[in-house]
Amino acid sequence: MHVLALDIGGTKIAAAVLDDDNVILRKWRVPSSQDPADIDRIIARMYRRAAEEFADIEAIGLSVCGNVPLGRRSIEFAPNIAAWTNYPLSDNVEALIGGACPVVVENDANCAGWGEYVKGAGRGSRNMVLLTVGTGLGGAIIINGELYRGSFGMAGEIGHTPMVPDGDTCGCGLRGCTERYISGNALERFTRSAVRRWPDKSGLLMELCDGDLTKLTGERIAQALEQGDELAHYGFGKIGEWLGRAMAATTAVLDPDLYVIGGGVVAVGDALLEPARYNYRRFLEAGAYRGLARIVPAEAGQDAGLIGAADLARR
Ligand code: BGC
Ligand code: NA
Ligand code: ZN
Repeated sequence: MHVLALDIGGTKIAAAVLDDDNVILRKWRVPSSQDPADIDRIIARMYRRAAEEFADIEAIGLSVCGNVPLGRRSIEFAPNIAAWTNYPLSDNVEALIGGACPVVVENDANCAGWGEYVKGAGRGSRNMVLLTVGTGLGGAIIINGELYRGSFGMAGEIGHTPMVPDGDTCGCGLRGCTERYISGNALERFTRSAVRRWPDKSGLLMELCDGDLTKLTGERIAQALEQGDELAHYGFGKIGEWLGRAMAATTAVLDPDLYVIGGGVVAVGDALLEPARYNYRRFLEAGAYRGLARIVPAEAGQDAGLIGAADLARR
């Protein structure tokens, strides 16, 4: 049997057909949409395309960037996609494909975390936490080898841990959430503030963004980092520092043996992971005496979300 998995992002949708061993047999990428009804139709279209080639698709697994209640059929709220509020995604798609197969919705970080657990950096761990750094900060919790969903499907929303009193306003409406300090957007903010503070060191960054700080994207900051830029280093160091704090806070509650860090920014490696590891220990209670979790980059990349969505849809 086969599963069609889709990873639905704000700009792109990745789709794949996977077999029973979670091997990706076919993969597509199509542009996404800001209109949820459009997204419903894109999913149905991808299903028809996949079904032409694979007659035995048993389920569709959807990875989405928001809160999915326990029934796994709808999106309650998505901080970074306003229109996905109490949205009956499974009902809509099932109607469009004439009920050909069940549609299972799952939180994107849960999918990526589960994918890393079964086929990536999480193999062999017992208690693992995944953190994905992107537009938002996603989290997945695996306890005793099982994805932990909590009482209402909301477990693992580490991006919305209240971290800073009266801090930055988050897409969820609250202030001071962790994801305001650990995300692509936070990287840009920290680096911009460094440019303003140390203008004499800002040559390369200013050059890369044509003197226009609004064009200072995460990619350009990573590019500057590669050339040894000090302020780029500062920016990654800052989100790394917050990541360390977030892991220490999470450890106080869950005590995992492994953190897997995902998202595009992790490609820079030590510039992010060293301050993360250092601050994890720094803010850890009894840090000098207790067992420490390993902190490693994700391995399965974007495929992790597809693998996780497929595998979770089967369960
Ligand atoms: C959302 C999570 C999601 C994460 C990554 C957060 O803002 O609340 O549900 O997993 O972003 O997309
Ligand atoms: Na999650
Ligand atoms: Zn928030």
